Amino acid sequence: MTRHIVVTSALPYANGPIHIGHLVEYLQTDIWVRFQKLCGNTCYYFCADDTHGTPVMLRAREEGIEPEVLIERMRHEHLRDFSGFEIAFDNYYSTHSEENRRFSEMIYQRAVERGVVTQGQVEQAYCETDRMWLPDRYIKGTCPRCGATGQYGDSCDACGAHYRPTELVDPVCALCGGTPVRRTSRHYFFRLQAFEKELRELMERGYVQDTVRNKLDEWFNAGLRDWDISRDGPYFGFRIPGEQDKYFYVWLDAPIGYMASCKNYCDRHGLDFDAVWNGPDWELYHFIGKDIMYFHALFWPALLISAGLKTADKLFVHGFLTVNGQKMSKSKGTFITAETYLRHLDPEYLRYYYACKLSAGADDIDLSLEDFQQRVNADLVGKFANLASRSGPMLTRKLDGRLGTLDEAGRALVETLRAEKEAIIADYEGLNYASAIRRIVALADAANRYVDQAEPWVTVKTDAETTRRTLTAVINAVHLLTIYLKPVLPGFAAKIERFLGVEPLSMADVDRTLEDRPIGTFERLAERMDKEKVDAMIEESKPRDEAARSEPAGPAEPIAPECSFDDFMKVDLRVARIARAEKVDGADKLLALELDLGGLTKHVFAGIAQAYSPEQLVGRHVVCVANLAPRKMRFGTSEGMILAAGEGGQDIFLLGLDEGAAPGQRIH
Ligand code: MSP
Ligand code: ZN
Repeated sequence: MTRHIVVTSALPYANGPIHIGHLVEYLQTDIWVRFQKLCGNTCYYFCADDTHGTPVMLRAREEGIEPEVLIERMRHEHLRDFSGFEIAFDNYYSTHSEENRRFSEMIYQRAVERGVVTQGQVEQAYCETDRMWLPDRYIKGTCPRCGATGQYGDSCDACGAHYRPTELVDPVCALCGGTPVRRTSRHYFFRLQAFEKELRELMERGYVQDTVRNKLDEWFNAGLRDWDISRDGPYFGFRIPGEQDKYFYVWLDAPIGYMASCKNYCDRHGLDFDAVWNGPDWELYHFIGKDIMYFHALFWPALLISAGLKTADKLFVHGFLTVNGQKMSKSKGTFITAETYLRHLDPEYLRYYYACKLSAGADDIDLSLEDFQQRVNADLVGKFANLASRSGPMLTRKLDGRLGTLDEAGRALVETLRAEKEAIIADYEGLNYASAIRRIVALADAANRYVDQAEPWVTVKTDAETTRRTLTAVINAVHLLTIYLKPVLPGFAAKIERFLGVEPLSMADVDRTLEDRPIGTFERLAERMDKEKVDAMIEESKPRDEAARSEPAGPAEPIAPECSFDDFMKVDLRVARIARAEKVDGADKLLALELDLGGLTKHVFAGIAQAYSPEQLVGRHVVCVANLAPRKMRFGTSEGMILAAGEGGQDIFLLGLDEGAAPGQRIH
């Protein structure tokens, strides 16, 4: 029985380019959708750009264009990148659409009718210069807990505290540097609590993987809080019915964008939207990253339940991408956009590598550049492509491009490959791509061993028909491997289909044997991956280019008032030797350092824990501001400061001195 399935990926924000982190999700989903189609199921893959909210509004303002123009351009760029990676949406729409406006109003209206929308006053920062309300990320100031400066309005990078933006000490507007005022305004709230019972039941029915259930239990236990669903203008979004200057918060209409994309597709293809989206015969799955689970596990199903619509059968939550074991970083050149990647490397490489790494859990996945190259060259080129290139050209050149029949050994090989079909299907279905790939690689190994034993390059000189039988078995192995790999490597599969002269392959073709037929001309399948190309891609991803491209107009943060030379000379800089370094419990960014200034000891808290481990530091000679007034922090008093540069997080570089510099020596 064929299944009917609707699948979505999270809608990427329209304020930035697609990068290799996003691609974890879109490739994971695309592989699953292609797998369903390969099995003969009806499966639609819907997505869209997430266009509303403050960042899009401000970026458009900065570029001096209307937001509508910006989002149209971004949508095209996103689509270009996705198709470059062979991600095949059935519809890629926009949340800024009439369908989405209508559905958003409808769902809101139904919530109002159910009595789950309330109003309340919210105190928020407002910038009178920019004449706008400042979301958390647009306010900077001093952390109320540890006193670190330059922190965002929602959380502190130094001590990890979470707080309300109104609690920030000395807040400034991140746009103009001015001091925001506090103002209250009326907001709308969605009463999430009203749906606790239904949401808990949903979880019981297996809405999320077991591995993320704990997180949800935590949220339930903490209590479901009302959700602020309105924003005051100026805001780029849908105006709330009956209001002059209030808009739906972007996260209200974003998931509704899934529906809008589906509706738009159904209308253009003569399908009954209500049956497809809401009917019992259709399955619905959302693929998302772990960072947006709250929205998809709680808010979104609650909105649907409130509106009397069905919820998804399952949420598939994946982890985050790291590169060489660390968060993607602009300065390290590992924040790689899809566009940059495609300028240097074959998309099939990344599709293959992510498939090798993905399983059903929400663990982070690591792209180790060395392992990436090694796996691609060893398996993709060395095993799959090699098997085809060991058999195809010889058949065409020496044996008039015709397959013969299988002998017993050949049939045994083909049966070995067929026997794995159900296991591979189960792996794909259950998102255990890594396991599917392991099985397929093992089968390719078996086929390559078969070739090694039969030695067709030897027999071809004396015995054409034996060689033809050997190569017929190999071609049948290539045929089966291609079917199994097709969800992951559609480009590779298309080339083989042309070569074999077959219709687009499907899972049903596993039972078919190719015998006594001509084959087409062989195309090269995959080149080896060069280290130089990887290096060039990393180089191009480093910020230097970025800065040159996008920042002609001086620093974004205004220069502070002048500091006199005498003032500056008051700063007493000394060579300090790090005598001890320790992690600080409860502050994952901080290290407690004991500094030796030539007989004088100072204790300093430094926000460098993500860039350095304590062991790396002990014995190093650094520059210390020795006469800084002591500051009380949550974890103790900090008696100085050490100098470093960098963007923060993992990208912090201590100013160092060699060991000849005597601790305590003054630096002028
Ligand atoms: N616009 C929201 C989603 C709205 S869905 C109704 C959003 N956009 S996003 O562009 O930030 O992210 C899109 C998807 O990509 C999310 O599921 C997110 O988890 C995923 N990823 C973004 N960066 C990622 C990594 N570095 N690694 C893995 N997935 C990542 O969130
Ligand atoms: Zn401002």
